[in-house]
Amino acid sequence: MKKLYLAPLEGVTDSIYRRTFLKYYGGVDKVYTPFLSPNSTYKFTTREFKDINPEKNDVSLTVPQLLTNNPDHFTWAATEIIALGFKEINLNLGCPSGTVVSKKKGSGLLFYPEELDRFLYEIFNQLKGKCSLSIKTRLGKHEPEEFYEILEIYNKYPISELTIHPRIQSDFYKEPVKMDFFDYAYENAKAPLVYNGEIHSSADIEMIEEKYPNIAGVMVGRGLIANPELGLQYKKLKNTSEIDLKILKEFHNTLLQEYSETLSGEKPVLHRMKEFWSYWQIQFPEDEKTIKKIKKTNKLQEYKDYVSKLI
Ligand SMILES: Cc1cc2nc3c(=O)[nH]c(=O)nc-3n(C[C@H](O)[C@H](O)[C@H](O)COP(=O)(O)O)c2cc1C
Repeated sequence: MKKLYLAPLEGVTDSIYRRTFLKYYGGVDKVYTPFLSPNSTYKFTTREFKDINPEKNDVSLTVPQLLTNNPDHFTWAATEIIALGFKEINLNLGCPSGTVVSKKKGSGLLFYPEELDRFLYEIFNQLKGKCSLSIKTRLGKHEPEEFYEILEIYNKYPISELTIHPRIQSDFYKEPVKMDFFDYAYENAKAPLVYNGEIHSSADIEMIEEKYPNIAGVMVGRGLIANPELGLQYKKLKNTSEIDLKILKEFHNTLLQEYSETLSGEKPVLHRMKEFWSYWQIQFPEDEKTIKKIKKTNKLQEYKDYVSKLI
């Protein structure tokens, strides 16, 4: 059985989500924070601190993720995070968003191999022996063939785990995953590999496990949000593939309560909750109309009434 990780999804898997998910479901070995962006202020924002506050996070399971191309900013943030008790820091080299990429961050840095190499040299040097450093990467920016040179660079460093999302920047999250290049990584990467991309069932995980028996794990994002029982199913902690609506209701109600307590006003709470339904809707193929109403409503009471028709 492979390790299973909950992927970081900005706007979805914040500390409230991760904590509540681990309480009602779990079945995962690690959860990743969405990216924190350390900069020249050398301060975390309030939102960022929530993601790494040891009182709000399971320090042993949570991996904070950083997005920057500045080694000093990275090392500062990593040192702060280590002091809070976390053992692993993840570097984001996959974010495809235009504003991030144009600053040579996320998957934008992949197009500048020399800068990437210098950055990795600095951070691995400065943080040697202080924590595990893992990387989450795409194959490249414009062409998947960029990955040959990128992997050569990765192979120079003691990366604790290399998570590969086998798409390039311009694929965003939609184009087919390029498994040929994951095959190449499987043959040539020195770091323990983690596969990420388009996993929607425990059968999908088993297929990856069979094809790549020596990988360290599988990271799942949207599939695990849509079916929070996926980890339990894969780990055989639950035998049926039918989702337990009673638990989903408790999970939902706790999320709703937590967001109502932390966000101000109904609108941001509804915005959050509607985002979950865009993933959960797959569990309710017969209830398209109600799902549409949930997504449209701007009133909390109306929202609750519609939700009670489903769970
Ligand atoms: C809305 C959204 C937000 C994301 N935010 C992050 C992020 O903060 N850091 C990161 O490394 N990846 C982020 N990702 C990428 C996911 O972690 C993951 O690599 C991607 O969704 C593919 O995996 P999946 O097919 O299992 O969802 C995000 C993806 C989505 C759809």
